[in-house]
Amino acid sequence: MSESIILSIETSCDETAASVIKNGNEIISNEVVTQMMTHKKFGGVVPEVASRQHVEVMTQVIDEALKNANMKIDDIDAIAVTEGPGLIGALLVGVASAKALAFSHQKPLIPVHHIGGHIYANHLVKPLQFPLIALIVSGGHTELIYMKDHLDFEIIGETRDDAVGEAYDKVARTIGLPYPGGPEVDRLAQIGQDTLNFPRVWLEKGSYDFSFSGLKSAVINTLHNKKQKNEEIIKEDVATSFQNSVVEVLVGKTMSAVKEYDVDHLIVAGGVAANKGLRDALELETNKLGIELSIPPLNLCTDNAAMIGSIAHFLYEKKRFSDMKLNGKNSLDL
Ligand code: KG4
Ligand code: ZN
Repeated sequence: MSESIILSIETSCDETAASVIKNGNEIISNEVVTQMMTHKKFGGVVPEVASRQHVEVMTQVIDEALKNANMKIDDIDAIAVTEGPGLIGALLVGVASAKALAFSHQKPLIPVHHIGGHIYANHLVKPLQFPLIALIVSGGHTELIYMKDHLDFEIIGETRDDAVGEAYDKVARTIGLPYPGGPEVDRLAQIGQDTLNFPRVWLEKGSYDFSFSGLKSAVINTLHNKKQKNEEIIKEDVATSFQNSVVEVLVGKTMSAVKEYDVDHLIVAGGVAANKGLRDALELETNKLGIELSIPPLNLCTDNAAMIGSIAHFLYEKKRFSDMKLNGKNSLDL
């Protein structure tokens, strides 16, 4: 096992982040500047605005990560950066910065897959134990992944349309809540009642794929019909009915995968891992089976560079380096 001190950079969406990570599991520094307040005004992330804001703060965020780690660039073994998937203009800011640093200081450059990063956020809390199933739930992703070993990812299911966080944000907007609406829908769901009987979308028997756009349309149509009939819309009940449908399907498919693949470790990552309904249901089901559930703390669930530095340690061991031709990629296989 080689030792590593890695400077990592993440700019795939609306967080500008840099971190210094030792041996894949020790956070020496972890800086994040979020653009959430800017995008709130537009009701969602505006790609061009995101790119410009990354440019404005990138250098400072990297400097802070080194300063707070009490390190100079010469103390660093390699530079890691999110290569994709994500917003292309946003990714390019991180990739260009990483290339400049790697080239000028003659350090290896490690390209990282964003979803691989989300999974390794768990490794910063407790070493990953294999085999495992990972459920990734964020504003851009909904995936079930089976892992037999480090860096060995098998995607067994993914969304065919909206990501789960995206569905939350759209439903939130429909009932008049500000972006990002996920946390607020979650809060209302704790106090409402499941009165609206929204569909549970299971797709073909045995499939681990997801689909949330039909559920989103069902919510919009129900509200539209109620308005036309002048019926009262109880936001809390919409939230509970929607959340119950989402959680039942996410948890149902995840637990089927846990059983079929015979794993005793389930990990969850991405911004929607903060959802109380989802956490409670997964805790209950994993307890019943007697298997271990890991969910990182919230600051490691949402986009950050520490998770990029964690997986980069394992890529560093395998010398999975890139040359200066590295480019950002809006879509990229895991
Ligand atoms: O991982 P993340 O910070 O960014 C992406 O890479 O997408 O995830 C953000 C998403 C947003 O859609 C937000 O509404 C959702 O996570 N989210 C939640 C909750 N907290 C954040 N969704 C449901 N319940 C929550 N408590
Ligand atoms: Zn993410």
